[in-house]
Amino acid sequence: MSLLVTNIGSLAMPGAEFGDVQTIEAAAFVVEAGVISWIGSVADAPACDQVLDAVGNAVIPGFVDSHAHLVFDGDRAAEFAARMAGEIYSAGGIKTTVAATRAASEEKLRSNLKKLVAELHSSGITHFEIKSGYGLDLATEVLSLKLAKEFTSDVTYLGAHVVPAGTQREEYLKLVTGDMLQAALPFAKWIDVFCDRGAFTLSETREILSAGVNAGLLPRLHANQLENFGAIELAVEFDCASVDHCTHLSDSDIELLANSNTVATLLPGAEFSTRSPYPDARRLVAAGVDVAIATDCNPGSSYTTSMPFCISVAVREMGLTVPQALWAATRGGAKALRNDLGRIEVGASADFVILDAPSFEHLAYRPGVQLVAATYVAGKQVFGREAKWL
Ligand code: NIG
Ligand code: FE
Repeated sequence: MSLLVTNIGSLAMPGAEFGDVQTIEAAAFVVEAGVISWIGSVADAPACDQVLDAVGNAVIPGFVDSHAHLVFDGDRAAEFAARMAGEIYSAGGIKTTVAATRAASEEKLRSNLKKLVAELHSSGITHFEIKSGYGLDLATEVLSLKLAKEFTSDVTYLGAHVVPAGTQREEYLKLVTGDMLQAALPFAKWIDVFCDRGAFTLSETREILSAGVNAGLLPRLHANQLENFGAIELAVEFDCASVDHCTHLSDSDIELLANSNTVATLLPGAEFSTRSPYPDARRLVAAGVDVAIATDCNPGSSYTTSMPFCISVAVREMGLTVPQALWAATRGGAKALRNDLGRIEVGASADFVILDAPSFEHLAYRPGVQLVAATYVAGKQVFGREAKWL
């Protein structure tokens, strides 16, 4: 069964180099067995079994969301409202979600996840990572990871989110690096640590990442969101696929990242929702660091599933150009997960989004407008809204 996607007004194709996006006008492509097998102009398009007419609209690769905390129950709207009234964000709020998550049934957590995944698809996200980290006891962490694995291959063990209430620090470190880690192994691919003020110190992070890596997990890190105490050096030393947040970076941190394989993942929703200063992405770009953008969807510091929103903020507030932001949300996310998604190329998985817009620039130019008309994963539609033109 072949599918011809045709009458694409502007086909956006992020390239291998950071920020490079080529576009083809009046474009078409063919999907066979979930993979793109041909790309060219409408005039040269071959006959196929099925036709999908984009009616002159733009098509982009599906977004790759490399950082999302989707397994939880409850919300923290009151905490958000208090912040907007002047309270400061701290890592401590995580414990509120931990209590709600532990009290929720497996069915409730699964249905919460389904709803969030549907939201991701409606925002054009075709591949995503899911972290644990709101269980923080062995049973609830394992349940979180098991549920995450029902939805994605990129499952991250974040037992080291914070030390949960009522547990001694030393005792928790032993659990996170011992029995809990062993129990996580059948489900998790990655290990992550929240290395920041109020969460885990540098030496604790080293101990936790080492245990995870020795057990066969791949490292990534939350760092430099609230404070810079040297975590970038650690991330680079461990060859983390990505170091996420990067709100506070020194020039030497940027130099280290530029000479590494570690992607700097920016989380615009987190600065937005905690009313924090935005990092200047232009410093990273100027130094040659690969930048990704992710939603960081979580109930505390960034309760959004909208990659277009993150793109708008990254462009307006962090200083990325629009092509750089598109790259960061597609190939950047893929690089942060060390996979080859986020592309529209022959041989790539047919993960793509039809926009209700003539060009990808509209993603930033029309903030807050739902421009995602339809989302496809491996050639299959996972989201589509009623659109007169489709
Ligand atoms: O990525 N920074 C650590 N973890 C989450 C937020 C956790 C929370 O406040 O629930 C984040 O922002
Ligand atoms: Fe996070």
